[in-house]
Amino acid sequence: MLRNSETAQGFIDLDETYGAHNYAPLDVVVERAEGVWLWDVNGVRYLDCISAYSAVNQGHCHPRIAAALIEQAKRVPLTSRALRNDRLGPFLKKLTQIAGFERALPMNTGAEAVETAIKLVRRWGYRVKGIPADRAEIIVFSNNFHGRTTAIVSASDNPRYRADFGPLLPGFVFVDYGDADALERAMNENTCAILIEPIQGEGGVIVPPDGFLKRAWALCKEHHVLFAADEIQTGFGRTGDLFACNFDNVESDVLIVGKALGGGYYPVSAVLADDALMSLFAPSDHGSTFGGNPLASAVAIAALDVIVDENLASRARYAGAKLMQGLRAVQSLLVKEVRGRGLLIGIEMTVPAKNLSFALLERGIVAKDTHESVLRIAPPLVINDDEIEYLLARYRDALSAL
Ligand SMILES: Cc1ncc(COP(=O)(O)O)c(C=O)c1O
Repeated sequence: MLRNSETAQGFIDLDETYGAHNYAPLDVVVERAEGVWLWDVNGVRYLDCISAYSAVNQGHCHPRIAAALIEQAKRVPLTSRALRNDRLGPFLKKLTQIAGFERALPMNTGAEAVETAIKLVRRWGYRVKGIPADRAEIIVFSNNFHGRTTAIVSASDNPRYRADFGPLLPGFVFVDYGDADALERAMNENTCAILIEPIQGEGGVIVPPDGFLKRAWALCKEHHVLFAADEIQTGFGRTGDLFACNFDNVESDVLIVGKALGGGYYPVSAVLADDALMSLFAPSDHGSTFGGNPLASAVAIAALDVIVDENLASRARYAGAKLMQGLRAVQSLLVKEVRGRGLLIGIEMTVPAKNLSFALLERGIVAKDTHESVLRIAPPLVINDDEIEYLLARYRDALSAL
């Protein structure tokens, strides 16, 4: 375990005394950050392999995004959607063009975007597919993670996420992730959509079997069901493609994005769809005071520019392959599997992944367990060769010390 200075311990005590205990963070009190690096209040440097759960794909404190934020903060940060602003339109144009959709609906957090998508696909189910009132079903997958609202935890099969938060929302049908035959059996005339992560991040970096996504997409077409992809974690280059669905040439009907859309600065999320679908929302049907605000829009424009101009997807592909090769080369009885795609990597351990997390922390690497036995390695996509070597050397050392 890390021994903290009095200063650090003081901050930790404040968190513990005055905050709800709904997280179990590593005891690193971060004071500043740049690129892939974090510094704690004692000036100790850490290589960040968490990236704020993949929200910092562009690297911490990217100067271009910082400049956009500061400039917009001085001009006008918030108008609400009661008015128009001069940043929203350019943001929507850029996002839709990059993602290949006709329209986008901006929100703030990932969970809100998922909620938005749930409303959109249900409405389509009633108004287009002709599902009888209140009978719409959305197929979700075992081990999924789509956020923490009451609707979304109703779509989770993880008892920890659901326990004692009921009554939960009906209308979700569960299918084993990766089982296309079960998916086909679950589809019926009341199914409006499937909601799916192309790779499950929180679930322990689970890559579905080859061909599953494509088959799921084909089944959706065949059964008149929408394919809603939750790319909040996998999107914007993380897996080595701009979106993880691109790897399988799957064109989703609904694309849900967040995290890195805010460039590590600001919560920005969105739902993308084509006009026919998005036009099912009319004024007053849905909204958010902060969604699409000028500050968020300016930040997101810069965040998207950095992703494109700095080729972050191909950098993640290159760095991910190199890192994966290096991690897999380390032989250890404590490691069952190293898996993932691009810079979304999971190390499945035969011992609690926390042990490796703590051993890495003592060596200047922050990485967190995402399931009891899986350590997720997801650094900012700007990680360079030297930084990968730095990480690998400490990984080897940490494993041998366990
Ligand atoms: C796939 C996926 N969907 C949704 C969410 C929820 O996003 P947020 O925490 O911004 O609400 C997450 C967060 O980890 C996620 O990984």
